[in-house]
Amino acid sequence: MERRSSLHLFVAALLFFAGSARGAGIQIPEGPGSNLVYAKCQTCHDLQYVADAKGLLPAQWKAVLASMNDYGLEISDQEKSTILNYLTTYLGPNPPPAKPEAQAASIDGKTVFQQSCATCHGADGQGQPGYFPPLAGNPDLFKDSLFPVLVVLNGISGPITVEGKSYNGSMPAFDHLSNTEIAAVINFIRDGWGNGSKASQMKPVAPELVAQQRNHALSPSEMHARRENMESK
Ligand code: HEC
Ligand code: HEC
Repeated sequence: MERRSSLHLFVAALLFFAGSARGAGIQIPEGPGSNLVYAKCQTCHDLQYVADAKGLLPAQWKAVLASMNDYGLEISDQEKSTILNYLTTYLGPNPPPAKPEAQAASIDGKTVFQQSCATCHGADGQGQPGYFPPLAGNPDLFKDSLFPVLVVLNGISGPITVEGKSYNGSMPAFDHLSNTEIAAVINFIRDGWGNGSKASQMKPVAPELVAQQRNHALSPSEMHARRENMESK
């Protein structure tokens, strides 16, 4: 067991570095389960593998998931069936036509939050002690105008303290969200759950600001280092 997991770590690290050099941000078609693929399938490699494999037959996708399991992918049975459904539908031999580009006007931060963030940070941004830091009442959202944008674009991983409580987890990058969606979700969390009084002293995030930050993709641990710098300021 010990040997097995250190081998996995090694392979994961290798792929991680290879992957980050090529840059993240590969898009897959949007559909039920796509968020889970973004969350679960980018820990070892970026989604280029997944995008390139489009057109596989259901039995072939099933075999791919079985080999990812062997490599160390950890998912519940329910997540597995959601992912398999997604892959065979949207990346299978006969995918539904792509949805037209989401109308910017209909994007609201609350919906983005519920779809992409609430599973970990809680429906009311309360977090989960020991696992996921709260976003409600979290002063880090305001220490630096860019910080939350960068966390969403790059992910973050490493030990942190929020309001006196420690966390040592890892959040994947959510750079598949559009600039408009990221701006909307940051403005939503900055304004929600009683955070609003501080938000009124800060300029709302514009999609253009998010666009500018995409170029300097950081790894989740580089993001952690940037957070440390912010703390000591
Ligand atoms: C624990 C690490 C890990 C995770 C998590 C992971 N993969 Fe992989 N994946 C690998 C490795 C290792 C390879 C093989 C790389 C090679 O052969 O060059 C790979 C390769 C692939 C390939 C290329 C075809 C193949 O079978 O080699 C596809 C497609 C793929 N992964 C899909 C996925 C999907 C979908 C998920 C999420 C459900 C996922 N991977 C999650 C480790 C992982
Ligand atoms: C898969 C779980 C997960 C999801 C989904 C998730 N996060 Fe996170 N998030 C985390 C974890 C874990 C941390 C802390 C990482 C660490 O310990 O370094 C974190 C940290 C953060 C931080 C930094 C908090 C601080 O005080 O430094 C922000 C901001 C944040 N997340 C915003 C978001 C937003 C916005 C979304 C949705 C777009 C989101 N997160 C989705 C798990 C998640």
